[in-house]
Amino acid sequence: MSRASLQQQEMGLGPAWQPRAGWFEQHPAQLLRQSPQTDAAPAEPPVLAISASPSESRPPHRAELTAPPEAPQIAAQAPAPASSIPEPVESTPTAEPLRTEAGAEPAPVDWPLLQRKVADCHDCRLCETRTQTVFGRGNPQARWMLIGEAPGENEDRQGLPFVGRAGQLLDNMLSAAGLDRDRDVYIANVLKCRPPGNRNPAPDEIAACNGYLLQQIRHIQPTLIIALGRFAAQTLLETEDSIGRLRGKVHRYQGVPLVVSYHPAYLLRNQPDKAKAWQDLLLARKIFRQAES
Ligand code: URA
Repeated sequence: MSRASLQQQEMGLGPAWQPRAGWFEQHPAQLLRQSPQTDAAPAEPPVLAISASPSESRPPHRAELTAPPEAPQIAAQAPAPASSIPEPVESTPTAEPLRTEAGAEPAPVDWPLLQRKVADCHDCRLCETRTQTVFGRGNPQARWMLIGEAPGENEDRQGLPFVGRAGQLLDNMLSAAGLDRDRDVYIANVLKCRPPGNRNPAPDEIAACNGYLLQQIRHIQPTLIIALGRFAAQTLLETEDSIGRLRGKVHRYQGVPLVVSYHPAYLLRNQPDKAKAWQDLLLARKIFRQAES
């Protein structure tokens, strides 16, 4: 058995896949499109009423409840053969660029100051319900950056991203790919505060938090970004495309190669898709090696 097969077996990966329908209408970009933002707090997106596994009392993380809106195209999602890395799909977010002008160096980001700003942030309503902010975790000099959605209950309590079951799965996958979560990667979220009840992030919350993430990326200057789940992918790429459409390609965010994968919390509930997440990781590793060489 090959090393990759052994690793996949170790992670409990299966070959099948099982798409489900249904979350697209709640995406912030879609909501923004439907109703222009005002100063008033928008109606809270519904919390899906699916219970967590019996062993858990916490509300399920939203990513555990959601699934791609359409059946992913298997052919389009197959990892690139060794000889052909997918062409980067250029995306042009309107957010503040990493480089302010052509050729100009980005303004240096004072990391401790940024951490303090996040810790003291009162820019949206989530400051009222959070226990604490969740800035990020890992090595700020890492070449890999992983971006998730928002803290859940455990993260809110501990002040660190991906510390629950989803985090354990993520750690296992990173480790199977030869990456140490503390040394080789930096992990942050689109939102730094937990949405109450693990509801979906609201458009104005994403907008309020976006600058922090941009500054984190600007400071870290990763060689490669992995967007975990649809909120991260759709926010960074400013698209409403489904995960199914975004996976298996190399996008660019501010010039940095970006690969989209499933959210680990989603994978906990949709085990067969772990195999595809593993393929995403292999694609990311290949792009990374190419970018570093
Ligand atoms: N899900 C996320 O997207 N981020 C976390 O930190 C935890 C769960």
